[in-house]
Parts: sequence; C-alpha cells; structure tokens
Amino acid sequence: MKTMTDLDTLVTQAREQFAQAPTPNDLENAKARFLGKAGHITELMKGMGALSVEEKKTRGAAINQAKQAIEAALAGRRQQLAQAELNAQLQAEALDVTLPGRSRGLGGLHPVALAWERIEQIFASMGFDVGDGPEIENDWFNFTALNNPPNHPARSMQDTFYVDMNDKDGHPYCLRTHTSPMQIRYATAHAKHHIARVKAAGELGENIPFPEIRVIVPGRTYRVDSDATHSPMFHQFEGLWLGENVSFKDLKVTYLNFCKAFFETDDLVMRFRPSYFPFTEPSAEIDIQFASGPLAGKWLEVSGSGQVHPTVVRNMGLDPEKVIGFAFGSGIDRLAMLRYGVNDLRLFFDGDVRFLSQFR
Ligand code: DAH
Repeated sequence: MKTMTDLDTLVTQAREQFAQAPTPNDLENAKARFLGKAGHITELMKGMGALSVEEKKTRGAAINQAKQAIEAALAGRRQQLAQAELNAQLQAEALDVTLPGRSRGLGGLHPVALAWERIEQIFASMGFDVGDGPEIENDWFNFTALNNPPNHPARSMQDTFYVDMNDKDGHPYCLRTHTSPMQIRYATAHAKHHIARVKAAGELGENIPFPEIRVIVPGRTYRVDSDATHSPMFHQFEGLWLGENVSFKDLKVTYLNFCKAFFETDDLVMRFRPSYFPFTEPSAEIDIQFASGPLAGKWLEVSGSGQVHPTVVRNMGLDPEKVIGFAFGSGIDRLAMLRYGVNDLRLFFDGDVRFLSQFR
C-alpha cells in the first residue's frame, strides 16, 4: 500500500504543478521534472533493479499507470494553456463588425470648379459653345487687338506679369489679364470658312449670311493684385455672341437667365450701369440684386459687358457693318463667393480641407 501511496502522491504533485504552470514554457519545465530523463518516473524505473521478478511486474505496472496519469494531466494542461492563449489572442484582436468602417475620405470638387462647371452647363443649355485658350498670351491678343494699343491709359487698369520672350511677330508674351483675347481667337478660328467664302465671292460676298457665334470661354487669368477680393491668379469666363441681328436685349435676357439659373432663384433683378472698356462700345457693368436672402437689397457687380467694338470686329477679320454682337466677362471666383456666401477670396486658394470639405 505504501508504494501505491508514493505513486498517488507523485501523480497528485504532477497534477498540481501542471495546473500551476502559468505558461506553456513553465509547463514543459514541470513535465521534465516528472517525465524527463532525470525525472521522478525515470528514477522510479531505475530503482526497480533490486526487486524480484514478481515484484517487478506489479511495481512496473503501477509505475506505468502513474506515468500515464501524469501524461494525461500534461496533455490536459497543454490544451488548457493553448486554449487560454487563443482566447487571449482573440480578445486582443477582437473585431467589432458592427462598428462603422473607416472611410477613405472622399474628395470633392473645389467650389470654383463647381461654379465653373455650372456656368458651362447653363450656357451650353442656351446654345453656347465652350472654348479654351492660352494663359500665356501675347500682347497683341491681350491688349492691342482689343482696341487697347500700347500706351493707352486703359492698359494700366490691368497690370500683369510679362514673360521675357516675344512671339514671332515681336509681340511680348504676358500672362493674360482677362479671357477677352479669346474673343478674337475664337471668332477668327470659327469664322475662317465664312471669311474665305465672302472673299471668294467678291461683290456678292455681302449676301452670304454670317453663321452666328455663341461661346463662353472659362479660364485662369492673372493680374498684379492681392487682397481679400483680388488674387494674382483668378478665374473669368468670357462670353461672346456675334450675329447679324444681336442686340443688348439679347445680352440682357441671356445674362438674366444665366443668373437665375446659377443662383437658383427668380427673385433677382438686373441693371446695366454705364462703364468703359476699350473693346466695347457702349460698355456696361452688370449688377444684380436679390430680393431675399443674406445679400438682399444690395447691388452686386457681377460682370463687365458691352457691344463688341467695331475695331475688335475688324480685328476678327469680320465686317462691322454686317456683324454685330455683345461680349461679357465675369469673375468665376466672384460668382462662387456670392453663391456660397464666402467673404474672403483667399479661402479658395489656401487649400484648407476644413473649408473645402464643406462643398463636397
Ligand atoms: N475683360 C474685362 C475685364 O477683365 C471684362 C469685360 C468687360 C469683358 C466687358 C467683356 C466685356 O467681354 O464686354 O475687366
């Protein structure tokens, strides 16, 4: 009975030590103490040498049984520790699938781009083409062809950045101060066939009807100017409508309809205020006034405009006796400020996401 008690105690000890091993590593060390080469079981086996054959049988069987019990306890604890480890890992890497996902932060169009797109869409719906032209312009298209010759005082209204280079005709290059040079470029390019036909027809050329031109040209423009309402780079869109019978009335209807669509309200009035531009005669500023909303009751200047000056029509290669029309030039940034209630132009160009994300 005594020997059985020894083995029982050993098994109990093993179970206890295994159970107390906090990590798989500690468990393997405990295992070595019982089942290893120098462990208790091995020692007991070695101690059987002196026993009789009969005694060896019983003692051997008993030791074996104890060994199996220890092995079972070891396997059980191993599994327990493995499970605990897995649980800890699952807990640490827990994934709450009900939480909202982390979004990629969707971008959006810049408010000036939104206004720009809107302007194109509205004018396209009124039959206007959308043109595009160079930002580095020569002094002929930017000034001279627009009836603004060198040394004309009106040039100083639009101080700009000059590029240290002349074109092949000796005109210096500059950053365009407005989109108006596109009046000439577009009209010349689009009336090319008409001009050729009129020329080829000689005296009869007079009878060839002029194919109307209706275009807006949005784009970047540059001036030496910088404050809360002026930026050295800003955006304009030019409008041009040329035909044989186009009048100020058409300009008024067109621009009024544009404003109503752009600001999404019928509750506004428009007025022409006499002004001066070298490339139009007569010239007018267009002002609008809202009947309601935060800007109600104030006249807001939104565009320059006028009837295209005969000299400009001639510089397009067209006959001012036959072709007449109007032009306008409006600030896109300015319209975007009015539409979105922005009071400082510089906000558009600071690139602050807190500001920009409001327009997504
Ligand atoms: N180009 C002028 C400016 O930037 C604006 C302008 C006025 C354009 C009258 C026009 C126009 O086409 O007819 O100040």
